[in-house]
Amino acid sequence: MTFTSSVFIGTSLDGFIARQDGDLHWLTSRGEAAGDYGYDAFIAGIDAVVMGRGTYEPALGYDTWPHEGLHVAVLSTTLQAGADPRITVYRDLDRLLRGLEERGARSVYVDGGQVIRAFLRAGLIDEITITTVPVVLGTGVPLFGPVGGDIPLSHVRTKVLGAGVVQSTYKVERQAAPCTP
Ligand SMILES: NC(=O)c1ccc[n+]([C@@H]2O[C@H](COP(=O)([O-])OP(=O)(O)OC[C@H]3O[C@@H](n4cnc5c(N)ncnc54)[C@H](OP(=O)(O)O)[C@@H]3O)[C@@H](O)[C@H]2O)c1
Repeated sequence: MTFTSSVFIGTSLDGFIARQDGDLHWLTSRGEAAGDYGYDAFIAGIDAVVMGRGTYEPALGYDTWPHEGLHVAVLSTTLQAGADPRITVYRDLDRLLRGLEERGARSVYVDGGQVIRAFLRAGLIDEITITTVPVVLGTGVPLFGPVGGDIPLSHVRTKVLGAGVVQSTYKVERQAAPCTP
């Protein structure tokens, strides 16, 4: 690949990225209390965003479109292609990867639990930053799940932010063979 792929995501201590009904208040309220958690600096280095339909659809309800000015690729087998000019819909990972290559993407932000796992299974994630808020939800939408094998990581840094929020960054060790999807 000619681009690098990064994850920058908020989770509960037990690894959920949303409640089962999609609620994110448990995260956003604590995220605000954490102070500057580095999102602006992260997104400044990104030229394309990849997400699943499960992340795209809730974003339609936000006050403002969160990725103005960036190429946004949405993986979905069901969304109508061309219905939203702000996004490009891709039906599968191979077509998405070709699309990113053709656009000359250099630094890709990968978002949404299923899509992050698809990228991990394909050996395509370079860096993972997880911002953990101090709550156990017990159930919800998971970040991690089966990824086809162990994925060795190198720890880069951990910061303790306000309100008990802890942020850790890992590099994916590239010498490991990609896992079988
Ligand atoms: N905590 C955070 O920082 C954070 C960040 C992002 C999202 N979220 C939340 O997480 C939830 C969404 O996460 P999620 O894991 O459920 O979903 P997701 O990964 O965002 O999207 C899943 C959908 O993407 C499509 N998809 C995934 N892999 C595909 C592939 N290989 N080929 C074709 N289509 C593919 C499918 O859509 P079709 O069914 O249309 O085929 C699938 O239903 C939302 O509630 C969102 O708000 C939280």
